[in-house]
Amino acid sequence: MKKGYFGEFGGCFVPELLMPPLLELDKAMREFLPCTEFQQELDDLLKNYAGRATPITFCPALSKELGFELWLKREDLLHTGAHKINNTLGQALLAKKMGKKALIAETGAGQHGVATAAAAARLGLECTVYMGAEDVERQSANVRRMRLLGAKVHPIENGSRTLKDAINAALRAWISAQATTHYCFGTAAGPWPFPDLVREFQAVIGREARAQMFERTGSLPDYVVAAVGGGSNAIGMFHAFVPDESVNIVGVEAGGTGKPGCLHSAAINIGRPGVLHGEYTMLLQDDDGQILPSSSVSAGLDYPGVGPEHVHLARTGRVRYGIAYDHEALDAFQRLCMAEGILPALESSHAVAYVLRHADEFRPGSRVLVNLSGRGDKDMDIIEKELGL
Ligand SMILES: Cc1ncc(COP(=O)(O)O)c(C=O)c1O
Repeated sequence: MKKGYFGEFGGCFVPELLMPPLLELDKAMREFLPCTEFQQELDDLLKNYAGRATPITFCPALSKELGFELWLKREDLLHTGAHKINNTLGQALLAKKMGKKALIAETGAGQHGVATAAAAARLGLECTVYMGAEDVERQSANVRRMRLLGAKVHPIENGSRTLKDAINAALRAWISAQATTHYCFGTAAGPWPFPDLVREFQAVIGREARAQMFERTGSLPDYVVAAVGGGSNAIGMFHAFVPDESVNIVGVEAGGTGKPGCLHSAAINIGRPGVLHGEYTMLLQDDDGQILPSSSVSAGLDYPGVGPEHVHLARTGRVRYGIAYDHEALDAFQRLCMAEGILPALESSHAVAYVLRHADEFRPGSRVLVNLSGRGDKDMDIIEKELGL
């Protein structure tokens, strides 16, 4: 496969001024990632700072109801509340090795911003986070956490005032700050080499889960399911299972309200190929190629594009990509709370929702492993408002 591409998707479509830091990053990845010393330092941070390994949890009540075994990979139990810390610790450590003094990041739900702020504080780096003004409003608890962790938060008022616009602002800021600053990109998308780099740091999820399922059940799961925003928790979970032909893999995109003609965030299912944020991928766009705004009750899935590896996995048929709607995610959130005592993030609730709503697609008696990418504390205000509590 051509370097930086997954089939025909991916690549590096950036202004010339961004090529030097991307080439520098590629060189640093090849130099440091294979080093035992780097891997030992990262393992130590993941284990003793972030709280890895995360457990897998069997859900007895929902399994009984559904007629198959429902298991959850508990990334919600990690420090800062989501899988994002796997990637930010990796990138912050790499930035230190590269001699950088500061991190910049974009954030949607605020989870990547909080995880970047924490990693920066821990490793002695400065931190600036760009966040759409609408997300600043709907994820205000995370904005407060970022500030308490020492990060500067810049609300972005342009465009749809969400993640897409935050990424544009961060890429622009990186052009002038590249000598001292690493752009800690939050998902497995964007220009090469970010899709590779982020997958590398998130693949620990699937590696662990695969070994844990063997240990607990004596076999691999029959299905693996994860929600897809940019695609980092999903690719982190899927990567170890892609070679296992017996494992069915399902990605879940956000369908928004599901009302005809309304906005959504399902780029693989409903988008068309194009270029955004430095990559050739599937995008929500109009007939003139203009990017359409996305919409989802979950800020972390509210993005008009998707990482290129997912598009390739969809095109080759290895992974099936379904859709869960806002009301289904809210329902799944409540059912997981009530039945199992677990309060999931709205993003992760989309993956659970797909399993609950499409239970007849899963073989009776089979084992279904869902990646619970984060915890729902950040979503309390939205959930109470949406459910009228
Ligand atoms: C808990 C959680 N899950 C999933 C996502 C979606 O991102 P990704 O597709 O990169 O995993 C986010 C994004 O903020 C998130 O906070």
